[in-house]
Amino acid sequence: MAASFAAKYGPWAVVAGASEGLGAAFAAAIAARGLNLLLLARRGEVLAQVAEDLRGRYGVQVRAEACDVARPDLADALAALTADIEVGLGVYNAAFAPVGELHERSLDDLLRVVDVNVRAPVIFARTLAPAMVGRGRGGLVLMSSLAGFQGAPNIAAYAASKAFNTTLGESLWSELGPRGVDVAVCCAGAVRTPGYAVAGGGGEAPGTLDAARVAQDALAGLGRGPDIIPGTVNKLARFVLGRLLPRRAAIAIMAGSTRALS
Ligand SMILES: NC(=O)c1ccc[n+]([C@@H]2O[C@H](COP(=O)([O-])OP(=O)(O)OC[C@H]3O[C@@H](n4cnc5c(N)ncnc54)[C@H](OP(=O)(O)O)[C@@H]3O)[C@@H](O)[C@H]2O)c1
Repeated sequence: MAASFAAKYGPWAVVAGASEGLGAAFAAAIAARGLNLLLLARRGEVLAQVAEDLRGRYGVQVRAEACDVARPDLADALAALTADIEVGLGVYNAAFAPVGELHERSLDDLLRVVDVNVRAPVIFARTLAPAMVGRGRGGLVLMSSLAGFQGAPNIAAYAASKAFNTTLGESLWSELGPRGVDVAVCCAGAVRTPGYAVAGGGGEAPGTLDAARVAQDALAGLGRGPDIIPGTVNKLARFVLGRLLPRRAAIAIMAGSTRALS
């Protein structure tokens, strides 16, 4: 399995937002499949540790680059960082999720959501896709969320940014699939990560999954359809909220979870 994965999506992968949580889990799952890695996140020292660990465990090449994906020159930076490697897989995982009602959050924070969660994935896909299309093979994974399927009070800008990612990824799935490039949007429910632990205050929503499981499901789902929803509870929640209930009821139920975040 690892050999065919590497043949289709290797020899290099880029993971944006790879220093901890789900991004680090993606990096480990990809290294286990034999791909070399370019890891991006802001905290260079933490990222360097992740890279060293993966080199030791899997014997692959791993580059760690401290990079804020909100930087204005992200397109040039990403092009420079990938100029000498053949990138067959891109995972956009980084996100900014400020909690609180929109009218009380600073405008700077809200616009940073747009920079990290909306602008950067567009740049990421636009930078990596052309070479994949040229080779007729490759893969892109965009991390999205069940929160993006309906209104989600207390995380309004974040939820809207995830709706953007879901639609972006589904559109790219249709555009790039016929050109040999698999695109998948991973619409996760709650995942055990440092980010979720802080926002959730230590509590856990029903169906919360380990990061390694979500990364495995997302990578296994490449080439199988536009959307991946890891976990039975989350698939059921999506079905009930998206298909059975009126939208206002779906928003009310989502609010039960998102209003508890802090
Ligand atoms: N956890 C959940 O319950 C959950 C549920 C649904 C969807 N998701 C999605 O899954 C993804 C990962 O979530 P998570 O909980 O693992 O998040 P997290 O614990 O907050 O980690 C986010 C990662 O992104 C990096 N990052 C954040 N801002 C960045 C920036 N401006 N530039 C570069 N890197 C940046 C962080 O590293 P640095 O701090 O070192 O930059 C970290 O490695 C997100 O897209 C999120 O929306 C998560």
